[in-house]
Amino acid sequence: MRIINSVVEMQQQADRWRAEGKKIALVPTMGYLHEGHLSLMRAVRNRADAVVASIFVNPTQFGPNEDLERYPRDFERDGKLSESVGVDVIFAPQPADMYPSGYQTYVEVTDVTGPLCGGSRPGHFRGVATVVAKLFNIVEPHMAIFGEKDYQQLTVIRRMVADLNMNIEIIGYPIVREHDDLAMSSRNVYLSAEQRGKALRLNLALKEAQGLIDKGERQSDSILARVREVLQPGEDVRIDYAQICRPDTLEDLTRVDDRALLALAVYVGATRLIDNRILTARS
Ligand code: PAF
Repeated sequence: MRIINSVVEMQQQADRWRAEGKKIALVPTMGYLHEGHLSLMRAVRNRADAVVASIFVNPTQFGPNEDLERYPRDFERDGKLSESVGVDVIFAPQPADMYPSGYQTYVEVTDVTGPLCGGSRPGHFRGVATVVAKLFNIVEPHMAIFGEKDYQQLTVIRRMVADLNMNIEIIGYPIVREHDDLAMSSRNVYLSAEQRGKALRLNLALKEAQGLIDKGERQSDSILARVREVLQPGEDVRIDYAQICRPDTLEDLTRVDDRALLALAVYVGATRLIDNRILTARS
């Protein structure tokens, strides 16, 4: 496995692979890898000839009061883990190479960035779309894979790829959960043992919502009222949003008649956790 820090070197490697007719897969990450990331790497390993994992804590997607400085980092461990699942190249650029002084170009995806995390993290998806577009230009992948835990992120990237005619297959990968069903996230390390117990309410709430639908409930308001009860907001638990929306456009749905996305963002202590589930109603 090779570690490439230079943007130009990465582009040269990608050009060589392309000239040799090799299929390139990109797994974009911000490092501090967990089983969720490794699943993404394994999933593309047998679909591509060359697998690149990018590790870059992207400053433009963090708000001024967010956790950019304290975001967990462990490059050595990330390297070993990536190698163990057959990654060919880790691309780990420096912020100053990705955003040199004078930088002024951003990718703005509009409607699908409005709701959910777009409401509480202004500018976040502009940063995500920009860095992912840059990574696509540098790594020149044929395919890129993203976890469905960041459902809105995946939606935004699919939209960008379609709108900007990027010839890249975008693969979504199901949420990977810990032994206790907490959705895997690099931010889970922030949780104390007690907070972790409370964090499990997110997945319980998602399951409860599907349970209500199975019993015949269709009204989003009633489902969301029950979701809020299960989340038990109070000391240490604050609901940022709990919304039921169309899985494609992310517009709010007042009823669940077919498929709907239930998306949650909840602060447990100072840690903001997200989770989601596609709800299905059989008529
Ligand atoms: O999901 C992430 O880790 C990041 O948002 C991504 C896609 C690597 C862009 O920085």
